[in-house]
Amino acid sequence: METSSQDKPMMTGDRTIPPEGARYITIYIMGQAYEIPETLTILKALEFAGFQYKRGCGCRGGICGACGTFYRKEGDHTLFTGLACQTVAEDGMILAQLPFFPANRADHAGVDMDLSPDEQINTLYPEIFRCVGCGTCTRTCPMDIDVMGYIAHFKRGDVARGAKTSFDCIMCGLCVSRCPANISQMNVAMAGRRIYAAQMMPRSEATKSRADQVREGRYEPALAELAQMSKEELKELYVGREREPDLSKPGEWMPADTTNL
Ligand code: SF4
Ligand code: SF4
Ligand code: FES
Repeated sequence: METSSQDKPMMTGDRTIPPEGARYITIYIMGQAYEIPETLTILKALEFAGFQYKRGCGCRGGICGACGTFYRKEGDHTLFTGLACQTVAEDGMILAQLPFFPANRADHAGVDMDLSPDEQINTLYPEIFRCVGCGTCTRTCPMDIDVMGYIAHFKRGDVARGAKTSFDCIMCGLCVSRCPANISQMNVAMAGRRIYAAQMMPRSEATKSRADQVREGRYEPALAELAQMSKEELKELYVGREREPDLSKPGEWMPADTTNL
């Protein structure tokens, strides 16, 4: 296949091959102008421009939080934020990647576990009371999380609500980098979710009883039987297994063979 001088190999193994007549736009990386085909994400645009992402990017799917980006647009005073793997590059973007950003991370090991959940948060991160309610964190968050809101929940002692409100945090650090009160929101939220999960969340009786069965060795004979099988026999067993129909409601379906339930 014929390639043009505009073709560039990408780090993921795919290639950006601009279609015939593709429109090129100008973006600025570290102050330097680059021509890239439109419709690329910022991450792919950076790679098209010649930068190789061996570190500082991860999932490319908006989940890992490694690709936080700041940008301005020519003629606009606003400082925008986004994830490089999810934001489409626009003509005139002036880009800067957020490298690792130092965030205060308190040592949970030293906290008295007899304290109530909200007292634990207050002991670990007393700086949350310095929040001035500016809302910059909420406006910065690429996941549209009400960051100021979850900090307010923790301040009020509502750890459960703080944990739930912050659940979608991907730890990108963009909010931390902009907080005038030097709060490390993402680590406050992580501590809140851990405390909630360990000390407040209702326990599932079904999970507990299944874990007890595993500990008591209920599945050891079945596992030993599987370990004796050849690869072909295992494949046959796997392919022929009973499968829950798609979209069946909880409790609606049971396999015919309940030996291992
Ligand atoms: S950026 Fe900092 S000070 Fe402003 S609302 Fe968020 S946590 Fe509070
Ligand atoms: S809360 Fe902060 S660290 Fe978490 S996703 Fe939003 S901006 Fe990123
Ligand atoms: S590379 Fe993982 S969120 Fe962008």
